[in-house]
Amino acid sequence: MSNSSKITGATILLENVTKSYGSKKPAVNQLTLEIPAGQTVMFVGPSGCGKTTTLKMINRLIEPTSGRIVINGEDVTKMNGDDLRRRIGYVIQAGGLLPHLTVGANVGLVPKMLKWDKERIRQRTDELLDLVSLDPEIYRDRYPKQLSGGQQQRVGVARALAADPPVLLMDEPFGAVDPITRQRLQEELIHVQAELHKTIVFVTHDFDEAVKLGDWIVIFNEGGKIEQYGTPEQILAHPANEFVEDFIGSGAGLKQLGLARVRDVRMRQLPTVDLGEDAAAAANRLTEAHAIRGVVLDQHDRPVGWISRRHLEKMSTVVLPDEKGVPTVGESSTLDDALDTMLVAGSSEAAVTGARGRYRGVITVNTVIRAIEGLSHEAVEEVSVPVGHNTGAIPVATTAENGVITYEMAEDDQQKEDEWLTSANREWSETDRQKWENYSSLDPAEDVVGEDPNLKGSGSERA
Ligand SMILES: Nc1ncnc2c1ncn2[C@@H]1O[C@H](COP(=O)(O)OP(=O)(O)OP(=O)(O)O)[C@@H](O)[C@H]1O
Ligand SMILES: [Mg+2]
Repeated sequence: MSNSSKITGATILLENVTKSYGSKKPAVNQLTLEIPAGQTVMFVGPSGCGKTTTLKMINRLIEPTSGRIVINGEDVTKMNGDDLRRRIGYVIQAGGLLPHLTVGANVGLVPKMLKWDKERIRQRTDELLDLVSLDPEIYRDRYPKQLSGGQQQRVGVARALAADPPVLLMDEPFGAVDPITRQRLQEELIHVQAELHKTIVFVTHDFDEAVKLGDWIVIFNEGGKIEQYGTPEQILAHPANEFVEDFIGSGAGLKQLGLARVRDVRMRQLPTVDLGEDAAAAANRLTEAHAIRGVVLDQHDRPVGWISRRHLEKMSTVVLPDEKGVPTVGESSTLDDALDTMLVAGSSEAAVTGARGRYRGVITVNTVIRAIEGLSHEAVEEVSVPVGHNTGAIPVATTAENGVITYEMAEDDQQKEDEWLTSANREWSETDRQKWENYSSLDPAEDVVGEDPNLKGSGSERA
C-alpha cells in the first residue's frame, strides 16, 4: 500500500545562515551548507558549537537571524513554520513522546494534524511500528512509560516518519540509551534508511556513530564553523587540520575498521574436516595441504572446532577434540567487530561464516592488522563533496533534475553577497519556537488526538 520505498529525500541548502543571540558571538556564523537528497549527513563537534542550532534552523524551531533555507529548490524561510514542520520529521533524545498519549496516538500525531482519515492513520501507525520492530498488537495501546528507553526511541523514529516526510532531523536520538540498545537502534536506522532513502540530518557527539551511520560527516567548530565536510573515509584518511585530528581522537586506523568488512579482506583457507569422517583420510588431506591443523565442520558445514594432524592420527573417526569451540564472525561483520570477537575469545584467529553459518575461511588478528596498514595508505575514492563553508559566499542552483537541485558557487560571490545583504526580507524575528520541541505546542487541552477511540488507549491504563 505504501509506496514509501520509492520516496527519496529532499536537498537542503542553508545559504549563508547566521543565528545570533543578542550581542554575543553568533551561535552559527555565515554558514552555507548543502545536504544532498536521500543521504545521511552527520553533524559532529564540541559542545556548544552550534549543531542543535543549525539543525533547528532547518525546521525553523529556531529562526535564523539572517540567511535563507532552501528545501528542494523552495525557499522555506518565510513559509508558515507549522506547515514546514509537518513536512519534516524530528527525533529528539528519549523520543520526546507525549506521556498522556498512547504509542499509537503518538505515532499518529502528525497525520492526525494533517487530517488523514482514521483508517489511514491506523494502518500507517501499525506499518511504522512494524518498521521499527515493535509489534503493533502489543505496543499500539501502551503508554510511553510502559516502554523501555530503546522502545520509546523507536516510537520517536516511527512518529517522525509518520507523514512520510522527505527530511528527518535527529538530535542525538540515541544518546540516552545503553550501548547495546544503541547499537541495535543504529542498525535499525541503517535498515530503515536503506528502504526509505530519506534526507537525514543527524547530530551526535559520538564520532564512531558518525562513521557508522553517515554518508557524510560535517565537523563543526565553535560558531557553526565547518572544519571539514566529507565522507567518513575521506575524513579518517585525510583529516583537514589539527582540530579534526584531535576530534577524531587516537586510532583513526582503528576507526577505519568500522568501515571495512570481513568479506573485503583476504581470508586464510584451512583444510576442512567433517565430524564423523574417517580420521586417516582427513589426516592425509591435511598433509597434502601442508597444514598442521584443520577446521572441523558439523553436518551443516558450520565450524565447530580446530583439529591438529597429530590429534587426527590418534583417532579412527573424527570427533570433536575437547576444545573450547571456535570463535566465529560473519562475513559481513566489520573488521572491528571481528577484532573484538577474537580478543574476547582470547584467540588470534576466528572462523568466518556466510549464509546460514556455513564456513567460508579463517581470519586472523594479523590479517586485520595488515588491513589497518593497507587502509591508511589506500587512496580514498574521489567524490565531489557538497557545498559547505562559512565564507559568506552564496551558492547558485545549477541543475534541477528530477527535483534534485545541485549547487555550486557563483562566479562573483562578492557581488551576490552584496545583493544579498542589501535585499529586503532577510531578517527574521528572534522568536524561536522552542515550544515545538516535544510537539508541546499541541496543548493537550486542545485535545488534538484525545477523543479518537481508534487511537486512544483504554482509560484504565492511565496513571
Ligand atoms: N536561547 C539561547 N540564548 C542564548 N544563547 C544560546 C541559546 N541557545 C543556544 N545558545 C548558545 O548557542 C551556542 C550553540 O548552541 P547549540 O545548542 O547549538 O550547541 P550544540 O553544538 O548543540 O551543543 P551540545 O553538543 O552541547 O548539544 C552555544 O554557545 C549556546 O550557549
Ligand atoms: Mg545540541
